[in-house]
Amino acid sequence: MIEPHGGTLINRYRPEYDYSSISIEVALDAVSLSDLYCIGIGAFSPLLGFMGREDYVSVLDSMTLKDGTVWSLPIVLPVSSERRKELTEGTKVKLAYDGQVYGVLEVEETFEVDLDREAIAVYKTNDQNHPGVSRLMKQSNVYVSGPITLTKFPDLQFLDYQLTPSEVRSKIKEFGWNTVVGFQTRNPVHRAHEYIQKCALEMVDGLLLHPLVGETKQGDIPADLRMKSYEVLLKKYYPNNRTLLSCFPAAMRYAGPKEAVFHAIVRKNYGCSHFIVGRDHAGVGDYYGTYEAQEIFSNFSKEDIGIQLLFFEHAFYCKTCSAIATYKTCPHDDHEKLILSGTKVREMLRKGITPPAEFSRREVIEVLIKGMKDS
Ligand code: ADX
Repeated sequence: MIEPHGGTLINRYRPEYDYSSISIEVALDAVSLSDLYCIGIGAFSPLLGFMGREDYVSVLDSMTLKDGTVWSLPIVLPVSSERRKELTEGTKVKLAYDGQVYGVLEVEETFEVDLDREAIAVYKTNDQNHPGVSRLMKQSNVYVSGPITLTKFPDLQFLDYQLTPSEVRSKIKEFGWNTVVGFQTRNPVHRAHEYIQKCALEMVDGLLLHPLVGETKQGDIPADLRMKSYEVLLKKYYPNNRTLLSCFPAAMRYAGPKEAVFHAIVRKNYGCSHFIVGRDHAGVGDYYGTYEAQEIFSNFSKEDIGIQLLFFEHAFYCKTCSAIATYKTCPHDDHEKLILSGTKVREMLRKGITPPAEFSRREVIEVLIKGMKDS
């Protein structure tokens, strides 16, 4: 099976860890909690904790950790400047969310950053209308770094699907798959998604449908509802011996190209040999070009990325072909094309319009409409 990113699968989960003698507590927000969890279970291997200044600067400037390993997004823990004085090197602090302790951090350093510079480096914009920038600008510009211990799993409510990287690897072994393609999504699966997944499945042994279930922006369909929609879709339309549904607990950054690199490398930790990048991967609005999230990979050698990328063109439904197609496979005029996107599905549902079958499977739409009515 493919090696984890950086060579070693990290496991920093110690439920028995006794933190009762630690008095200092740092409050996490939902994003930092998901980062803590992802580091602890090895989803973010080779990271052992929240990044220090050298790694942070190197990630922003050259998309690598200071040791040269490819890494494209800062994984950092903001703290208020008042707390900073207590957080001296070697101090242990409890990491809590909503009054519950989820882990411990051993402080290495605290450092101040320029959030505007981070916004431009990560998101290519400092426009506060960008959901990632807006979140960044609201947080403190002081970060605390150091290795973590995860003492408790957050309750994601998807217990059957809350598999750690090593559990996913075991399943892949059980299935006997030699090659596995990872599919990242923050949307219900529509027909274009299904098309690119199944094209990929023609080439590899298994598909890891790996929806992101951490924090997403307002307006995105909530993860619990999406999980129900994936269940009905897989049951009816996918071969169950070639598909594995499991959730990816990270938060969405909407950083387009840089997040695509991140999404690809961390899927190695889950045992994926291949990864799909379609049009405007992890994008939002018009901040990134349609294929920028594919082009960014030309900055790296195949060895440094280590996972095989499967790039797909913008897929649409063509009325004349009576099929999903791309410009590579369909010669017909644009007016024949139904453009498919998660944003469009969401818009239609919000207006009470049932997306047509060419757009989304009926079973998926039924789950979404029911879920939206009940909420
Ligand atoms: S993402 O933010 O998680 O990337 P989304 O769930 O919409 O958003 O996309 C999941 C994957 O499918 C991404 O790789 C994206 O590029 C790809 N994708 C989405 N819609 C299309 C489409 N119509 N044609 C080709 N690829 C697509």
